[in-house]
Amino acid sequence: MNDDYKEAYLREKTLRKQAEQMLEDKSRELYDSFRKLQEAHDSMQENQQALVHNEKMASLGVLSAGVAHEINNPIGFIYSNFCTMAEGMTDIQTFVLTMDQLITSGADGETIFKAWREGLTRHDVEYLLADFESLTSETIEGLDRVKQIVSDLKSFTREDQGELDLVDVNECLRGAINILSNQTKYHATVDVDYGEIPKIKGYFGKLNQVFTNMIANANQAVDENGHIQISSCEVGDWLEIAFTDNGHGISEENLKLLFTPFFTTKPVGQGTGLGLSISHGFVEEHHGEIRVESEVGKGTTFKILLPVVHG
Ligand SMILES: Nc1ncnc2c1ncn2[C@@H]1O[C@H](COP(=O)(O)OP(=O)(O)OP(=O)(O)O)[C@@H](O)[C@H]1O
Ligand SMILES: [Mg+2]
Repeated sequence: MNDDYKEAYLREKTLRKQAEQMLEDKSRELYDSFRKLQEAHDSMQENQQALVHNEKMASLGVLSAGVAHEINNPIGFIYSNFCTMAEGMTDIQTFVLTMDQLITSGADGETIFKAWREGLTRHDVEYLLADFESLTSETIEGLDRVKQIVSDLKSFTREDQGELDLVDVNECLRGAINILSNQTKYHATVDVDYGEIPKIKGYFGKLNQVFTNMIANANQAVDENGHIQISSCEVGDWLEIAFTDNGHGISEENLKLLFTPFFTTKPVGQGTGLGLSISHGFVEEHHGEIRVESEVGKGTTFKILLPVVHG
């Protein structure tokens, strides 16, 4: 009886040990799988960030060609204005020096007066001074344009820090419209209706990227005489930013695929198919949503809705 009990006890002990070992093995396996999953998740997240970055760099490549052209134009006339002004300055300098020499040489009043009148006519001083005025204001205008282009480009490349900012959505929208104006202006008219809207908490750079993609898509969808209507307004507790184009529209079938990464109907080299999926992610980060309405052959409206948190 005692032996039976001992044997049973030993058997139970062995079984328990085996069970404990199995449990430990399983826990280790589970832990290893968890680690692997976490690593896979981390590397996927890194890949996704790299993709988002790539998409931005690709659009930046397209944009910068246009931007270079856009900057080149004002720089061209600023340069030529300065050359004209430099020539004029030499004339005025000669005139002033001649007059100075005449005065210091002790010439009489009448001679000085005559030389003054003659000099004014010979060097066309009246014309030069008027020209200086218009050249200067034109140059300042050109420099303002360059400054604006650089600042729009900076908004586009702005990296958002982790912190939320107070974003002026109209300002953000204006930057996106400007940066694309050299692509839209040749075949489309862009009408913008900026509504009175409050600032919202968000990421300027990300919203700017969303808007840029919306306008780029609308621009690529329209033909000659295209029309793109953009508006911003406050509807209840939401900001609504709408982009309507009279382009080729989107079929029912494609509407379902719009936000899928890499879905594109554009030829190779023109679209990576990431614009809308990235935009979707960014809008979600703002707790907002994107709505689409489209009719083939008539056009498309994309609406971005962003919540306004009052106070
Ligand atoms: N306004 C629009 N009108 C017609 N089709 C559109 C419009 N916006 C998007 N689409 C369709 O949705 C597809 C996906 O758009 P998305 O912005 O994600 O990628 P893409 O423009 O093709 O490429 P990427 O933005 O990466 O350069 C487009 O290829 C196009 O077929
Ligand atoms: Mg796109």
